[in-house]
Amino acid sequence: WATCNAIHEDFLQCMTIHCRGCIDTSKYIHTPSSPSYTSLLQSSQQNPRWLNSTTSKPLLIITPYKESQIQASIICTKKHGLQTRVRSGGHDYEGLSYLSNTPFAIIDLINLRSISIGIEAETAWVQSGATIGELYYSIANKSGVHGFPAGLCPSVGIGGHFSGGGFGTMLRKYGLAADNVVDAYLVDVHGRLLDRETMGEDLFWAIRGGGGASFGIIVSWKIKLVRVPPIVTVFNIDKKLHQEEQGGGATMTKLVHRWQHIAHKLPEDLFIRIVIQVVDDGESQGGSQNKTIKASFNSLFLGRIDELIPVMNKSFPELGLQAENCTEMTWIESVLYFAGYPIGQPLDALLNRTTQYKSYFKAKSDFVTQPIPESGLQGIWERLLQENIAFMIMDPYGGKMNNILKFELPFPHRKGNLYNTQYLVKWEGDDEVRARNKHIHWIRSLYRYMRQFVSRSPRAAYLNYRDLDLGINQQGNTTNYSQAKVWGRKYFKGNFKRLARVKTKVDPKNFFRNEQSIPLLPAMK
Ligand code: FDA
Repeated sequence: WATCNAIHEDFLQCMTIHCRGCIDTSKYIHTPSSPSYTSLLQSSQQNPRWLNSTTSKPLLIITPYKESQIQASIICTKKHGLQTRVRSGGHDYEGLSYLSNTPFAIIDLINLRSISIGIEAETAWVQSGATIGELYYSIANKSGVHGFPAGLCPSVGIGGHFSGGGFGTMLRKYGLAADNVVDAYLVDVHGRLLDRETMGEDLFWAIRGGGGASFGIIVSWKIKLVRVPPIVTVFNIDKKLHQEEQGGGATMTKLVHRWQHIAHKLPEDLFIRIVIQVVDDGESQGGSQNKTIKASFNSLFLGRIDELIPVMNKSFPELGLQAENCTEMTWIESVLYFAGYPIGQPLDALLNRTTQYKSYFKAKSDFVTQPIPESGLQGIWERLLQENIAFMIMDPYGGKMNNILKFELPFPHRKGNLYNTQYLVKWEGDDEVRARNKHIHWIRSLYRYMRQFVSRSPRAAYLNYRDLDLGINQQGNTTNYSQAKVWGRKYFKGNFKRLARVKTKVDPKNFFRNEQSIPLLPAMK
């Protein structure tokens, strides 16, 4: 405690020296003895897996209200030898925005979340601490024919999401969130506030998909809004595995198999994803538990029902889509629909930052370049049935994603990918270490099984579905480029070296680091 208090006192002094107008520090600097500390620390932790862990807690949580407070925080954390973790929405799958094994401070951008929409210019400025739900809401408040192509869960933070790529239901038409960023403000390791022009094109490239945490603190982003029709169509068709025996129509496995051949080739306006999950069967099957697999074909079409039905009849007749399976609504209503809200839910649900998805989980991701054979799918179902709360989410690529070159942004997973897939296992409560380890062991064994079906050399993964199993940097300030390549090439393929080059130039002492931050290039160390 004595050391803690000493650091705290020195830190406050440093802040007042380096920041004009940073006087009332108690409003935005929180120490373990502040009444707000615990609730702040836990507020946006998406995955409470580490709540009771022995991982050290931050010595300080800084919640700046303005850029100058971030700038001073960088200078002062550096001076005090504290590592910095920056948190926007707290959804990092491995908790990297709020956990560390070394003494550290969290810079939490919760108070930096203004959004300014310019409908005439079709652009917006959004601060990193806003959520994608707040962004969608603000756009819809100004226009019924504009939207933005980012993720599905409204509580996801802008800062982590944009800097890691970010995709959702409009990916096939407009690409990633990062593909639609045109400018940004970032505080660099020297505490300078830089925009696109002053940071330069290399750094601006790196923060759009390379993960912001390796390069600085991105305060705000300028984005291009995209056009959406006044009315869009959604549908959800569920198929269960046990229906296979009942004959009539294509079976679930056959539909999933067929989907792999066509979903990436559909018109760009049509996005059909599949969410596979273990569900209660409702029927007892001779001794085995009442579980089965459900595949939900979940779709957004940027047009009306009468345009959609002919497209579906031509491209995917096996699904048997009828007009009565479809619902027309505004684009913003479709955002609520995909977030899991019932039709008719008031739009302000998008402003709710306490996410409905908070849960204990572990996830892993893959990219699929060849359809998985039916027998392979059956093997996946068998494995999923070993768990109670397990998912596999298949998001189709193609469309716009095929037209963006692999090196345009750090996110390299473009042409040639049929779909991205994510495996998730969840559990309730975190008191039983043995039980948790069992789930983690299970998902690792599913991942081993999937190896034969997915991309190779490297086996690719999506940064925003962070997975520390892929590899981590050595502890301390000794990241090793060739060791980091093991995980780095999975996320970034050939772009990893360029990211390391940018990193070496902008942060040569590796101040901004974490378990999977971009390492320095050896020759330039
Ligand atoms: P968080 O604050 O934890 O940050 C994540 C990483 O980015 C950390 O390393 C952090 O330090 C860094 N960072 C954050 N803000 C920064 C800043 N301003 N400057 C520099 N670095 C910064 N993804 C997707 O593409 N589509 C989807 O539909 C979804 N859906 C989804 C649902 C749920 C329930 C979860 C938990 C996650 C998703 N994701 C997703 C994944 C999501 O995109 C990913 O976890 C993002 O990194 C989350 O960003 P946050 O700002 O919320 O996280």
